[in-house]
Amino acid sequence: MTPRTKNSRTRWAVVVVPVVAAAIGMAAGGRTAGAAADGDVEAFRERCATRISIALVGKGASEALLASSDPSSSVDALLESGDFVERFARFVNAEFNRDPGKDSAEDASYHLAKYVVKNGKPWSDVFLGPYKVDATGENGAVQVTEDANGLGYFRSQPWLLRYAGNELAGLKIATAYRILNNVVGLQLMATTNAPDADVSAKGREAGSCAGCHYQNWYALDHVAGVLSTKVTNDKGEVSFKPYSGSAKSLLGGKSIANDKELVQALVESENFSFQACRLSFKYLYGRSENRCEGPVLDRCIDAFKATKTIQSAMAVIAKGPGFCQ
Ligand code: HEC
Repeated sequence: MTPRTKNSRTRWAVVVVPVVAAAIGMAAGGRTAGAAADGDVEAFRERCATRISIALVGKGASEALLASSDPSSSVDALLESGDFVERFARFVNAEFNRDPGKDSAEDASYHLAKYVVKNGKPWSDVFLGPYKVDATGENGAVQVTEDANGLGYFRSQPWLLRYAGNELAGLKIATAYRILNNVVGLQLMATTNAPDADVSAKGREAGSCAGCHYQNWYALDHVAGVLSTKVTNDKGEVSFKPYSGSAKSLLGGKSIANDKELVQALVESENFSFQACRLSFKYLYGRSENRCEGPVLDRCIDAFKATKTIQSAMAVIAKGPGFCQ
């Protein structure tokens, strides 16, 4: 195992904490059977089986898994199970939204993540795939349907309305942030405005506001500038007016003219694979990776890039030497 240096992968260096692959190689394999009494080995396997099962599907291990001489070999089968699909989709939805939607259609990320994982599609389909997520089924049930004009769930009406925001001129800053957060894991704390703060574009360009709104690779107002704008009529009904201007230089120098090009550029970035693995880590461990887990994170990124499914990322981590320790 050759630990990579932190410069081997270029990432936008803000907020997303770079992973430092520790120079001390991780001891491969952990315990050796020969060194331990049989009872110990059995207890270790049972603990491992329980850990894998709870982490992946939220249930105690089956008899067969408890009796398995190699619990890690069951990871792939667990990743195919309906329990995993359901649990992971709920987890993703909680990560991608600040709070639960006011109805099921607003939780579009739950529905599409579930569809994508269940059907073994590339994880990027959640953000780029030709789908629509809306309450169009029987009795208003939420459905994922094919839509050539779809962009993951980012063009689905309930989601668009949920994150349209209230900016004075209809600029969808909240949508821009949500896309950056969901696709590459950008985390910013919107600062609470003093009651007399100028919240218009002029105010956001000034002082401490500019850092998030006009500077840095994620400059929220610039990113929002290529999205449709929110239009509210006399009756208070909201619609969206597409952006028709020319391409803007965003994300540190990429030429981008609309929401689709924005999401495409984010998915092509190194941060995308990093975020998929971090999400998998959080799902399995209940926390982000720590420094000495850099090597397994790097292997996860390689597997994810090659196979493109979130299951491939998850499998590397759940089968990793550290998981059952
Ligand atoms: C640390 C980064 C950060 C700073 C600094 C910051 N903001 Fe924001 N701002 C955000 C984020 C993130 C959002 C999107 C929040 C959301 O999800 O609704 C946002 C959204 C907004 C919106 C749109 C709200 C809506 O409902 O559409 C306005 C207006 C705004 N900020 C004004 C300001 C002003 C004025 C300042 C300076 C006093 C400021 N912001 C400083 C991160 C920041």
